[in-house]
Amino acid sequence: MTILTFVIEPGGAFCGRLRVPGDKSISHRAIMFGALAEGVTTITGFLEGEDCLATLNAFRAMEVRIDGPQQSRVTVHGVGLHGLRRPSGPLDMGNSGTSMRLMSGLLAGQSFDTILTGDISLNRRPMQRVIEPLARMGARIEATEQGTAPLRIYGDQRLTGIDYLLPVASAQVKSCLLLAGLYADGLTCITEPAPTRDHTERMLQGFGYALRCEDSRTVGITGGGRLTGTAIDVPADISSAAFFLVGASIAPGSDLLLEHVGVNPTRAGVIDILRLMGAAIEVLNPRLVGGEPVADLRVRHAPLHGIRIPEELVPLAIDEFPALFIAAACAKGVTVLTGAQELRVKESDRLQVMADGLNALGIAAGATSDGIVIQGGLLSGGTVNSHGDHRIAMSFAIAALRADTPITVHDCANVKTSFPNFVTLIGHAGLKVVEQEVA
Ligand code: S3P
Repeated sequence: MTILTFVIEPGGAFCGRLRVPGDKSISHRAIMFGALAEGVTTITGFLEGEDCLATLNAFRAMEVRIDGPQQSRVTVHGVGLHGLRRPSGPLDMGNSGTSMRLMSGLLAGQSFDTILTGDISLNRRPMQRVIEPLARMGARIEATEQGTAPLRIYGDQRLTGIDYLLPVASAQVKSCLLLAGLYADGLTCITEPAPTRDHTERMLQGFGYALRCEDSRTVGITGGGRLTGTAIDVPADISSAAFFLVGASIAPGSDLLLEHVGVNPTRAGVIDILRLMGAAIEVLNPRLVGGEPVADLRVRHAPLHGIRIPEELVPLAIDEFPALFIAAACAKGVTVLTGAQELRVKESDRLQVMADGLNALGIAAGATSDGIVIQGGLLSGGTVNSHGDHRIAMSFAIAALRADTPITVHDCANVKTSFPNFVTLIGHAGLKVVEQEVA
């Protein structure tokens, strides 16, 4: 096995205009609903990252005809809610938590058994959070003793709607239960403790499936309906744009335009947090594309200052914290994050791994039980380990904009899971990365 390392030249600025690849969350859902719909779904702007390809391949293994991806276009020939076929072996979700948790819900409603597995990181992540409510609906799912994958999901179980209060603010659990709700008798009603990304709700309605939205925290779905194929234009992923928002904010001389970025309010917390820190971000040409808010984002260098991050913004920026911690390292003063214990169970323990990496680059940072404290300072070059976490690898890559000597980041292969052309795009914007493969 080879390990991919990035070596990033220090200094520089981010300038010009660019479009980052398609939104990962929306790309997963477009494949899932397209497969379960009646008729054809065409997807443009699809993210050709490994995570979304794992979802796509799972449906191919269940005999759904899918053309592409070709230049980010995919055509899904939907088989209807009851048209999936038993796969010949386990479905491998790779590194993708979204694939595994959402698929658990829809597979619990099938007439055949399936096994879901993933890579070492995914097979360590908590799955009890979906197994427990699905079991309450009548699903039968076996996991390891630790409540982790591989999961065996039994078919032919009768599902019944439940009223469920999510113990953690998780769009993956909410979406899993909405997918199971498609197959359940009666109403499945889910209440979240704080708003989380609502792409599933928006897309279900785009496929012609009515939802009951009692208030901003509760959503209900009644089983037994049908989805109708549609056209989906996936906006650029704000989670990938985040590396450029932070990079341009911290690097003197930067002026960058990010085109066609999804700015759904349940995802745009990174803009609010950076603005609270003093960032200069303009939201231009806001528009609605296929039910999702989209805009162009102009970001220029600005002096940042440390803040106490408001806890209500945590679920709205949950994937952007590694990048935001780099902004905090370059800010004047202290940044304090609390209420973010979920970061410990992402692709890596993002609180600890980021604190260790920042320390290695000369920044005083300490993980707490549910957050981190970062004292802004002078970033030095050095060597950090991403622990196979794509967002950590990319965050330390952009930190080089403010370092005095090169930054070496180990274990970067998983950048391909969400942002396959990252190295090329940061090159166009103004950072030089050398990729080294070490056996
Ligand atoms: C996602 C939800 C979030 C996020 C993940 C994608 C989704 O996870 O971190 O990258 O597409 O629903 P949680 O729901 O576990 O917070």
